[in-house]
Amino acid sequence: MKEKLTQILDSALGQIESSKELEKLNEIRVSFLGKKGELTSVLKAMKEVAPEDRPKVGQMVNDARAKIESCLEEKRTAFERALREEKMRAEVIDVTLPGKKMETGHRHPNTLALEEVEKIFIGMGYEVVEGPEVEYDYYNFEALNIPANHPAKDEQDTFYINDNILLRTQTSSVQVHVMEEGKLPIRMISPGRVFRSDDVDATHSPSFHQVEGLVIDRHVTFADLKGTLEQFAKQLFGGDTKVKFRPHHFPFTEPSAEMDVSCFKCGGKGCRFCKGEGWIEILGCGMVHPHVLEMRDIDPEKYTGFAFGVGLERIALLKYEIDDMRLLYENDKRFLEQF
Ligand code: DAH
Repeated sequence: MKEKLTQILDSALGQIESSKELEKLNEIRVSFLGKKGELTSVLKAMKEVAPEDRPKVGQMVNDARAKIESCLEEKRTAFERALREEKMRAEVIDVTLPGKKMETGHRHPNTLALEEVEKIFIGMGYEVVEGPEVEYDYYNFEALNIPANHPAKDEQDTFYINDNILLRTQTSSVQVHVMEEGKLPIRMISPGRVFRSDDVDATHSPSFHQVEGLVIDRHVTFADLKGTLEQFAKQLFGGDTKVKFRPHHFPFTEPSAEMDVSCFKCGGKGCRFCKGEGWIEILGCGMVHPHVLEMRDIDPEKYTGFAFGVGLERIALLKYEIDDMRLLYENDKRFLEQF
C-alpha cells in the first residue's frame, strides 16, 4: 500500500512539474483527487487494510493529498504570474511618445441654420415634428392634391422603391401625417431630408433638406401667413429685411406664393450676391387648399390654414455666404472649421 501511494505521489508530482499550461493542472487534479481519481481509489480500498494499520494508511493518504494540492497550487500561481508578466510585456506603453491631438468638431452649417429656424418658430409656439423619409405615394402626392399623371409629379421625379413607395420629394408629406392625427389646431414645423433625381451642381443635390410649416385653426387668413413669414425673415436675416410675395402655383395651396427677402448684403440695391435683383427667393407658401383639408376630414368652412416650405441648404448658403452647395456635403474639415 505504501509503495502504491509513493508511486501515485511521484506520478502526480511528476505530471504537475512537467505540465505546460493552466488547464492541464485541472486535468491532473481530477485524475488524482477527483471522485474517480487514483488517490481516492486508495481510500476506497481501505477495507483491505488491516484495522490496526488503517489510521496510519489514512494519514499517509491525507499527506499525499495535501502534498499534491500544495504542488498544484504552487504551479498554478507560477503559471498565473508568468501569464501576467507576459501580458505586461505585450501591453507596454511608451509614455514618452507624443499624444494624439483631440480635434473638436464643429456644428455643420445646415445644423446651425436649422437650429435658428427652429428657435424662431418654437418662439412663436410651433411644435417640431418629424416624418418618414421613405414614404407612400399617397402622402407625398395624392393627399397633397397631386393625383396620378399630374404634371407636378414630373417636376419632382424621385427614387421609387416600388409603384407605391418612394423617397419623399418634399416635407409637405408630413402635413398629411399631422392632419391625419386629427388634433386641431395645428401649429408645426417639420425639418428633414428630401430626395429628387437631380444632378449635382452648385445649387442642386439629389438629397437636400427642407423645413415644412403648417398652421390650421379657425379664422387663419393670408394676413397671418404674411405676418408670420415676415417675422421669420426679419429674425433670420435681420430687422431691416423686407419681404415680397409673388403669386405662384402649388397644387396643395390656394392661393400660393413665393416669398423673396430683400438682399441682406446690399440692402436691396443689387449686388453680386442677389445677382443684381435686390431680392432673394427663399420659400414657397400658400393657404392650405380646401380639397386637402377635406381629404383629411377637416371642414374647410370651419377651419383654414397656411403652409410653407423652406430649403434649409438655401438658408445656410445665404446666411453663411457659401457659394457652392457641394461644399456642404464634402465633409472637408478645413471648410467646416470656419463655422
Ligand atoms: N413642397 C414644396 C416644394 O418642395 C414647397 C412648398 C410650397 C411647401 C408651398 C409648402 C407650400 O408647404 O405651401 O417645392
